[in-house]
Amino acid sequence: MLHLRRSLVAHRAFHSSRFAARPEISFKLSDIGEGIAEVEVLQWFVKPGDKISQFQNLVEVQSDKATVEITSRFDGTITKLHYEPGQMAKVGSALIDLDVSDEVAAAQNASNAPKSKAPAKKVEPIKKAAPSPAPIAHAPTPTPAAAPVARIPIARANTGGKVLTTPSVRRLAREHNIDLEDVPAEGDRILKGDILNYIKHLAENKAAAPAAAPSASSASATPTTSTTPAFEFLTESTTVPVTPIQKMMVKSMNAALKVPHFGYADEIEMNALDGLRTTLKPLAAARGVKVTYLPLMIKAASLALKYYPILNASVSDDEAHITMHAHHNISVAMDTPKGLLVPNVKNVESKSILDIAEDLQRLQKLGAEGKLGPNDLTGGTFSLSNIGSIGGTYMSPVIMVPQVAIGALGKIQTVPRFNAAGDVVPVKLMNVSWSGDHRVIDGATMARFSTKWKDFLENPVAMLTELK
Ligand code: COA
Repeated sequence: MLHLRRSLVAHRAFHSSRFAARPEISFKLSDIGEGIAEVEVLQWFVKPGDKISQFQNLVEVQSDKATVEITSRFDGTITKLHYEPGQMAKVGSALIDLDVSDEVAAAQNASNAPKSKAPAKKVEPIKKAAPSPAPIAHAPTPTPAAAPVARIPIARANTGGKVLTTPSVRRLAREHNIDLEDVPAEGDRILKGDILNYIKHLAENKAAAPAAAPSASSASATPTTSTTPAFEFLTESTTVPVTPIQKMMVKSMNAALKVPHFGYADEIEMNALDGLRTTLKPLAAARGVKVTYLPLMIKAASLALKYYPILNASVSDDEAHITMHAHHNISVAMDTPKGLLVPNVKNVESKSILDIAEDLQRLQKLGAEGKLGPNDLTGGTFSLSNIGSIGGTYMSPVIMVPQVAIGALGKIQTVPRFNAAGDVVPVKLMNVSWSGDHRVIDGATMARFSTKWKDFLENPVAMLTELK
């Protein structure tokens, strides 16, 4: 109701000069695209009373696809924030109200006049810049220097000394043995990103850690800089809202539930591939890239897909058409601090192994920082999930609809096997578990594809025969 009143005030102000007071407009959440209907407000960079200018960062929001920062299109003074951090904001709803000058209001009025009666123009989201949450446990790209925590210490005066935050953030702090009182934050409320930044800060600033360490005991000779979580039982049952990323999982898993899956598994001898990786490592390092097994397995998958394009395909909603994609955009399941995200490496068919490694490294870094954008997260045509980098042997992977196939890679382990002479020898083995869409893929096709892929991995020189 308040918003309506203000909108009306703004609307009248645009069309009349009778009002001496500065016109007030509402600034709405634009259509971000990709079918996104709502976003979670993560953190505000402004507060009521702040004078803001065009392009100034206003708020960080999380959709089920990416984290974005929304910037202002106006100069003005903020009169109201419509959402608290943690609340869901619907596309088209007002994010903030602000007083603007008559000129801004008039310009806005002029630009809106031909087609719209809307009192405020929608904002354009931009990709998130900084600050951003840092990875918790796995930071694959070492930072050369210690990063300062560029935050203003939290002002708790107006909270009665009480630290404001959500139960999930409290739990995260507890798991990492962090006293919330020590966590710097920009506003009155501590966000998950503040905790992650603080953990990163502790890890990267070992020398400075005693001063920042949470308890008096930190004055002892051994600083408590470990980021190993100290897990505790929950003291009470806790209910938390489903996060945007979990909402995305709900959507994609419900879609996958309609697809009849079948499974196929095999084991791959990885000794030769391991040797190739060892040879590649220094060459990759010279280019500033780290080569894990995954880029090699992705390239081998693309080469095998050349022979079986039906596996790099999607099925139309009405189940009447199958599109076999010319591009091999290989989706890779990533375990990120925000949860499971599945970005894709584009056009693998025309990329070298080092190109793929470079792309993966970029995506992994963006994933760890919560900065993966919609372009990285959409358009995948085939999926691989390297659960083996965490552990495990077999899996039942779930197809990323509308794709038709996914493979889960198990942990590479050295196990005893008989060689041709009947002797027991140590062999590096990896299990792969495929899932196929049984509406359009049959087991024989999957088995042939898997065998082709296995051949490339067990005899990687064969990949050279595919080069043009
Ligand atoms: N078996 C044994 N070791 C493995 C391995 C495997 N299957 N996969 C990776 N490794 C090794 C790597 O070679 C690397 O070791 P190194 O430093 O000696 O080279 C180390 O484990 C870490 O690799 P990682 O940083 O994980 O890189 P990656 O390119 O192999 O994988 C991701 C990148 C993003 C896919 C991976 O980190 C990840 O998030 N995996 C989880 C996927 C997931 O959650 N799947 C479930 C979906 S429901």
